[in-house]
Amino acid sequence: MPSETIFPAFFFSHGSTGMIARRTAPAAYWEEVGRQALAQGVECVIIMGAHWETPDETIRVSGNPAPAMQPVAWVPTEQYVNFDLNPDVKLAEEVRGMLDTAGFEVALEPDFEQIHDTFMILKWMFPGGRSLPHCVVSHNARWDPHFHLRMGAALRPLRNKALIIGSGGAVHNLYRNAWFSGVFYRDSLAQTAPPEQWAIDFGEAFSNVVTQNSGPALRRGIARLMAHPQFRDAQGTDDHYMAALFVAGAAGALEDEGHANYAGAENYELQSMRNSQFQFGDWPQAPHVTPVRAGMWEVTA
Ligand SMILES: [Fe+2]
Repeated sequence: MPSETIFPAFFFSHGSTGMIARRTAPAAYWEEVGRQALAQGVECVIIMGAHWETPDETIRVSGNPAPAMQPVAWVPTEQYVNFDLNPDVKLAEEVRGMLDTAGFEVALEPDFEQIHDTFMILKWMFPGGRSLPHCVVSHNARWDPHFHLRMGAALRPLRNKALIIGSGGAVHNLYRNAWFSGVFYRDSLAQTAPPEQWAIDFGEAFSNVVTQNSGPALRRGIARLMAHPQFRDAQGTDDHYMAALFVAGAAGALEDEGHANYAGAENYELQSMRNSQFQFGDWPQAPHVTPVRAGMWEVTA
């Protein structure tokens, strides 16, 4: 692989656990990203989720060669358990070292357990049943945007071999979801009423910041959205937003200035949870932008 190769980074809104069970537009998009990763020579995946947070100063990096999968609400175990996560402890050590060099307190976590926010993505990306080698980094529960931008920036050099992925939510407020169809019918996709206006508005604002900025302006824009008047409507807590900052850090260097960022597939769940997907930078070979195909909009069981 030529040293100048830089792979795109991604922010995925993973939605509810119901997204494991049904092939939605985002799931089909994740499959497409996985296909491109394999076709274009990506070697590994580095992923920050929304459900592994550390309350102290120390970042944790997954250092368990055989992590258990934590049980998932609403989804039968057989729909996700037969998947080879292929954790890469050597990659985790490399990530730990780079974060350490950048001045973070950071440690490998030997007792790490895989949570649905990361294995849902890997499972859809790699339908062959085995992930590319990957490691997971925790986020920090004080939710300082600049801390997470710096984490991503520290790992940007790994984009020469890795896909850097954030798994969170552009619009993700569990307090504002309409839970009835999900809880009573296990159907998170039944839109019995239109999304509320704040979900539409903040989703548009997020998408506009991604697609109309690059380089350091992207970093500033994603951080500034935390002061948007509808941020607290769209994010009941900050945990699903940190991975967006992490990716903006990894894809918002001066060298990224002028490189396009793209909105991908999306769907709504539970009325107002907007599961939008984003690509930062181009694939090195065609197709440079991950295709969003018409068939992605057909949900299958
Ligand atoms: Fe989540």
